[in-house]
Amino acid sequence: MAIALPDTLCYLNGHYTPLAEAKIPVLDRGFIFGDGIYEVVPVYGRRLFRFDEHLARLERSLAKIRIPNPHTRDEWLERCRCLVQTLAETRGVDDQVVYIQVTRGVAPRDHVMPDGLEPTVFMMVNPLKHATAEQRHHGVACITARDFRWERGDIKSTSLLGNVLARQISADHGAVETVLLRDGFLTEASSSNVWIVQEGALIGAPKSEHVLEGIRFELLRELCEDCDIPYSLRPVSEAELLSADEVLLSSATKEVLPVTRLDGVPVGHGALRGKPGPVYARLYEAYQQAKRLQSI
Ligand code: PDD
Repeated sequence: MAIALPDTLCYLNGHYTPLAEAKIPVLDRGFIFGDGIYEVVPVYGRRLFRFDEHLARLERSLAKIRIPNPHTRDEWLERCRCLVQTLAETRGVDDQVVYIQVTRGVAPRDHVMPDGLEPTVFMMVNPLKHATAEQRHHGVACITARDFRWERGDIKSTSLLGNVLARQISADHGAVETVLLRDGFLTEASSSNVWIVQEGALIGAPKSEHVLEGIRFELLRELCEDCDIPYSLRPVSEAELLSADEVLLSSATKEVLPVTRLDGVPVGHGALRGKPGPVYARLYEAYQQAKRLQSI
């Protein structure tokens, strides 16, 4: 069954074209090996949120897999803005997500990295699918699973089969995310970071090669500072996850989102059991303000 592609403009190797017409050679190493990296940048009111932080991570990902950065900051920004403007003007969509992908380029199939390849640059925009009012009001359900992915989760790589398989576990249960545990400790979720709240403090897994350092790591640290919420990164055991006062997801598209059921069991204690908690509510408000102040 053919699934209709969104009818939007994209950018491919120097040209803007309708998404349905964009084509890459089959020997692109992104297609053959998943040999590439990507970024997802949220856009609010036609402005890019935390753009420089996303670009800095794109550069780190490129450096980690030895692909030269094909563009300057201003070139990236101009391309992002052109796509955002076009979607805004043609479809009247103000909140969007920009997807950027860079692969090593096209070459005969060989695992060894060839020298001097021209990287493939692909960018597209889509309307941002906000969490629903219902999800914000009641929270969402997640499923836990063993983190069976590779050991370089710190690279925002397009090799996402492990994440796809992980995500499908929760999708099969009608849940929104799969929260992953490695050797009994929380790492992240299939496409989000995960936070617990204990006695009013926000706690996340330490930065490591098992976790993607989401752009919301630093953002949440800043928001916690503004809100007087203690913030720390340290190993979080499965027992701590399952007995947390609150559990939150964070990502470019989810912002911060309360998890109120884990493996079918309500999260939290007392009157707030199974309901979004006060730390979530404060961080969500602070996040909305940051969107207004920090988008360019
Ligand atoms: N996912 N961990 C993983 C594995 C992710 O894929 C993501 C983001 C995050 C959160 O990172 P950030 O806060 O920078 O969005 C953590 C994006 C949104 C995606 O793949 O669509």
